[in-house]
Amino acid sequence: MTAPRIGFIGAGNMATSLIGGMLQGSFKPNQLMASDRSDEQLERLGRQFGIHTSTDNAQLARDCDVLVLAVKPQVLQAVCRALPNERRAGQLVISIAAGVTCSSLAEWLGADTPLVRCMPNTPALRGQGVSGLYAVERVSDQQKKLTETILNAVGISLWLEREAQIDAVTAVSGSGPAYFFYLMEAMIDAGEQLGLPREIAERLTLFTALGAADMAVHSDVDSAELRRRVTSPNGTTEQAINSFTRDDLPGMVARAMQAAAARSAELSKELA
Ligand SMILES: NC(=O)c1ccc[n+]([C@@H]2O[C@H](COP(=O)([O-])OP(=O)(O)OC[C@H]3O[C@@H](n4cnc5c(N)ncnc54)[C@H](OP(=O)(O)O)[C@@H]3O)[C@@H](O)[C@H]2O)c1
Repeated sequence: MTAPRIGFIGAGNMATSLIGGMLQGSFKPNQLMASDRSDEQLERLGRQFGIHTSTDNAQLARDCDVLVLAVKPQVLQAVCRALPNERRAGQLVISIAAGVTCSSLAEWLGADTPLVRCMPNTPALRGQGVSGLYAVERVSDQQKKLTETILNAVGISLWLEREAQIDAVTAVSGSGPAYFFYLMEAMIDAGEQLGLPREIAERLTLFTALGAADMAVHSDVDSAELRRRVTSPNGTTEQAINSFTRDDLPGMVARAMQAAAARSAELSKELA
């Protein structure tokens, strides 16, 4: 089988990260192409990666086997409706646009289109992303494997059984980086209040976050057990954890994530 050609519509931050990651993996520059309305953006991409670029979305859609939709959600409907009907038969379409449902995509692209909806997150820009993926029934196992190869170029990906779970993924990992940034901000401020120079409080906080995440990812026990193991009875960590518990940290997190998931569902309705 010849190597599939992957075309990106929208050559912004996400597409650039994906293309960069894919080229570090098993993909070759002559397999990848991108279109965008900005010549400047395309020139940069062509120079950086040596891939084919164009301002013609329709031609790109005719030329590739897999189409990755990487424009902002607000312009996606217009982009899809302007694509030619005579795209390749069975062409896989992967949408990374937040909040745009498969039923909207099917309406704009044709009901028989094999569609994958993907919710990536910003650490993909550093090759450390995590994506939730949902495929409609028409998507073959081979197309699912290819989707994984594309998304895993910038991190890891996980398949979901129901499309509605994308709202939960948005609340956990889509919006999640900001929750950790917020906690880091608070820890840096508190470290400064405890007498540390800000730069030192910042380095201590960031490397603690990185180290804790690395330990949790590579551990064979869960985060609760890791926490227990570093919380000695009557020690300093226990004092801090008791304070978090009195302030209902788990409840605060649950309420915040319910609000994020509800907003995600609402946005899908607005974009339909
Ligand atoms: N960045 C993230 O971390 C993240 C996370 C999850 C999901 N996503 C999703 O990923 C998608 C892309 O996000 P991004 O951050 O990469 O956005 P971005 O940097 O703004 O990239 C989108 C690109 O599409 C171009 N574009 C606009 N209209 C177009 C058209 N009609 N034809 C071709 N290209 C067009 C834009 O050009 P102009 O700048 O001229 O408009 C821009 O270069 C979004 O749908 C977003 O919801 C992103």
